[in-house]
Amino acid sequence: RLVASMEVEETYIMIKPDGVQRGLVGEIISRFEKKGFKLTGLKLFQCPTELAQEHYKDLQSKPFFPKLISYITSGPVVCMAWEGVGVVTSARKLIGATNPLNAEPGTIRGDLAVQTGRNVVHGSDSPENGKREIALWFKEGELCEWTPVQEPWVK
Ligand code: TYD
Repeated sequence: RLVASMEVEETYIMIKPDGVQRGLVGEIISRFEKKGFKLTGLKLFQCPTELAQEHYKDLQSKPFFPKLISYITSGPVVCMAWEGVGVVTSARKLIGATNPLNAEPGTIRGDLAVQTGRNVVHGSDSPENGKREIALWFKEGELCEWTPVQEPWVK
């Protein structure tokens, strides 16, 4: 689908267990809402080990992989699907660098995190991975396709 001749993309955003434990769920969701993207899926979810391994399968050979899997499965995560023009790249900018010490102030990781292994949020790195990850984390019927009303709520 095209809007103003630009492709509408989808991305998978996940608040990791530390974000939930630290009470940052509202703050993080709010940043994507305020930017102007459209939420199409949202759930609190305890991730099974196999799903975490599948999600991060490209990192399987990395020394930090076992710790990454135990972190992601250590408590509930918030799974989200967001839609919009340029949402994949834009969400990565809002999130900031993988290592929070390199993340600019104003980004989620720059403002709210310190360690790479506790970096509070995930965002897909390409439109292909956006589709793959949404399909991986959401079942049929859990996503909502909706159109924001044009009528102002407050007159
Ligand atoms: P990666 O896909 O490289 O980063 P991003 O989440 O910014 O797309 O890595 C996935 C996650 O793996 C990252 O968010 C945190 C964890 N990780 C480590 O624990 N140690 C590391 O050295 C790296 C590179 C990543």
